[in-house]
Amino acid sequence: MIYLDSAATTLQKPQAVARAAAWAVRACASPGRGSHQPAALAAETAFACRQAVAELLGVGDPERVVFTCNATHALNLAIAALVSPGDPVVISGWEHNAVTRPLYALGAEVRVAAGPLFDADAALDAFDRLVTAEVKCVVCTQCSNVFGMVLPIQAIAGLCRQRGVPLIVDASQSAGALPVDLEGWGAAFVALPGHKGLYGPQGTGLLLCGKEAAVRPVLFGGTGSASLRQEMPDFLPDRLEAGTHNIPGVAGLLEGVRFVAERGPENILAHERRLVALTRDGLTQLPGLEVFGGGLGPEQGSALSFRVHGMDCEAVAAWLGERGVAVRAGLHCAPLAHRTAGTLDTGTVRVSFSAYNSAIEVERFLSIMERMVRKR
Ligand code: ALA
Repeated sequence: MIYLDSAATTLQKPQAVARAAAWAVRACASPGRGSHQPAALAAETAFACRQAVAELLGVGDPERVVFTCNATHALNLAIAALVSPGDPVVISGWEHNAVTRPLYALGAEVRVAAGPLFDADAALDAFDRLVTAEVKCVVCTQCSNVFGMVLPIQAIAGLCRQRGVPLIVDASQSAGALPVDLEGWGAAFVALPGHKGLYGPQGTGLLLCGKEAAVRPVLFGGTGSASLRQEMPDFLPDRLEAGTHNIPGVAGLLEGVRFVAERGPENILAHERRLVALTRDGLTQLPGLEVFGGGLGPEQGSALSFRVHGMDCEAVAAWLGERGVAVRAGLHCAPLAHRTAGTLDTGTVRVSFSAYNSAIEVERFLSIMERMVRKR
């Protein structure tokens, strides 16, 4: 199979990831829940993972790396910490439902900093206009999950710092490839999955908490600490980590993070960008296709969207699937991004890459696409 759906989850992982997860199932108990060896192994594994994540993603203190189930869980925690009903919140035009639905549920007054696709200056101008001192927080993805468009997050972070507005960054499509730097950005929170660009197992996610971030637990229960008190502990990570940890997931994630650190996120990004550009070059040769982006420049991440005129996106994905190519089609849980790009009525077909894809796979995908277009 040619797996081109890493924006949903990376399927090919370093072998050490599955090995470590299996080891943890057999060897680890719960961190902080005993002085016996299996509990100690779990605690050491969890701390090693926090430390590796902190080093990779610019977190000054590993204790501010919180384990979550996924990026959606992390985003819900971050948004719940900062937003109350009726609060004005500025978001980019490229946000996922993992951002827009929690804001909707909370009754926030959402203001969208929209702009054309692959126009970082226009995006920054839109934030510049909308981020005023009364805004409660800004939520911005570092890279669109649909189009692979990279947002100018460093400049947006600077603007938020200047105006004293807390920033939440959704690094779901960027961590492990683009530079993520919680402290450098001065962000309140960065939310991300463990199972995409960090190559961990599904069921892992991370919330990176800024120095000043005041957090609000949404889950209450045992933490193995301050057990006499009925309030949740007032320190991280325990305040946000009630209940038994997913230690097999964390052990796998640790190996995924080590893989990324060894290979270098910049090398992974350069590889994925080359594959995106190769895909774009091939698809634009085919008649009747509309391809969105796909350059080698700083505005390009690891995903690319296209649509085939006169053909339903889901039908294109199904056709590819029958021939052994895995892609994702439709709205990608991001109707706002499609509305901003003008593709809400049709959706798009998306290909997305990981460190494990190759140029040969892209060529095979392109020849299957060519056959489809010729047959049509
Ligand atoms: N948000 C993920 C995707 O884009 C699941 O496919």
